[in-house]
Amino acid sequence: MKSLESLDFDNDRALIRVDFNVPMSEGKVADDFRIQAALPSIKHCIDHGASVVLMSHLGRPGGVPSEDLSLMPVGETLCDHLEMSIKFSHDCVSDDAIDVSHELQAGEVHLLENLRFHTGETKNDHDFASRLAQHGTCFINDAFGTSHRAHASNVGVTDFLKNCTPGFLMSEEFKFLHSAVIRPKRPFTIVLGGTKIGTKLPLVTRFIREADNVFIGGGMAFTFLKMAGHKIGKSIYDDSLLQTAKQIVEMSKSLNCEFHLPSDIVVTEDISSGQDSAVRKVSEIDNNEIGVDIGPETIDQFCETINGSNTVIWNGPMGIFETKAYSGGTKAVAEALAQMTGRGGLSIIGGGDSASAVRELNLWSEMTHISTGGGASLELLAGRELPAMKALGMV
Ligand code: 3PG
Repeated sequence: MKSLESLDFDNDRALIRVDFNVPMSEGKVADDFRIQAALPSIKHCIDHGASVVLMSHLGRPGGVPSEDLSLMPVGETLCDHLEMSIKFSHDCVSDDAIDVSHELQAGEVHLLENLRFHTGETKNDHDFASRLAQHGTCFINDAFGTSHRAHASNVGVTDFLKNCTPGFLMSEEFKFLHSAVIRPKRPFTIVLGGTKIGTKLPLVTRFIREADNVFIGGGMAFTFLKMAGHKIGKSIYDDSLLQTAKQIVEMSKSLNCEFHLPSDIVVTEDISSGQDSAVRKVSEIDNNEIGVDIGPETIDQFCETINGSNTVIWNGPMGIFETKAYSGGTKAVAEALAQMTGRGGLSIIGGGDSASAVRELNLWSEMTHISTGGGASLELLAGRELPAMKALGMV
């Protein structure tokens, strides 16, 4: 596999798949984390004499063009970051768009409109991929967030271009979410939270084999607590996963993994009030109470282990952290991770809500790696082979 540094751009057009699927608000980019994360690869190509064609999706338009999901506002944010003007084409595979790419001068940037305005993208259509490939003379995939998809712009296109390589972001994500997990510096701890227990169980199953400690907090803890015979009141849980939860706990006992559930919980009778919360031992939650955060005793236990670890992966908040009264557990975990990183430990934050929490707490620069991926991070952490990485020969 070639690396981006090894490409010798001689009047080349670098076709780069980026993941500019960013949150939008009132027609403007609301969070430019993914745009910033793609800049090193884009700048490298510009600085080494290539012209650059960027392609991305935004949202799920289902093959139908829509003004709300145009990448034009993303292009404006990109111009600000690059401090230069760029070209924009309204149809990613039109003759006009391909002509614009062919006429680019070294150092110029051309952004294509949303790939998913065509059904060929998600269907990994051969002809659509071949049209996309005509934009470039080499292909760089830096869209880590879409690596779990086999689409035309990240898999199909590699059939048509000789030089295909991961971008810097893609390589960085692979290093932390794959390689670092295979040979972690121990003690190795994983902290999981959030509500989507179904999508996170593969992670639990993998990490009870690999990690020294697994902590479960957030909404997903209640399925485990209910299975263990605790009363969970009106807290969220998944009835269909009780048996799986039981098997996981039993399996962890036969492996060398300390499996931890919360011992106390912050509860409320009315989430919308954002107040009137109390702390209950897990055995004492009333029928009309809802668990909204981990309690102080659990925070102490989780943080003590995080502080004694050398590698920690964190995915998912410990409670409803958007509400101040229920954010204590998430805040404490983020702060413990920052401290552990400060004394030389490795902290890896899965994308999504845990990344948002780290940003809100102003601890962004204190972590070793914050993933740009949502589903892609979870799948890579769960040990799956991602199709876009396979297409590049990374796995
Ligand atoms: C993401 O936001 O996780 C990626 O951009 C992938 O988007 P998708 O789930 O719509 O394929």
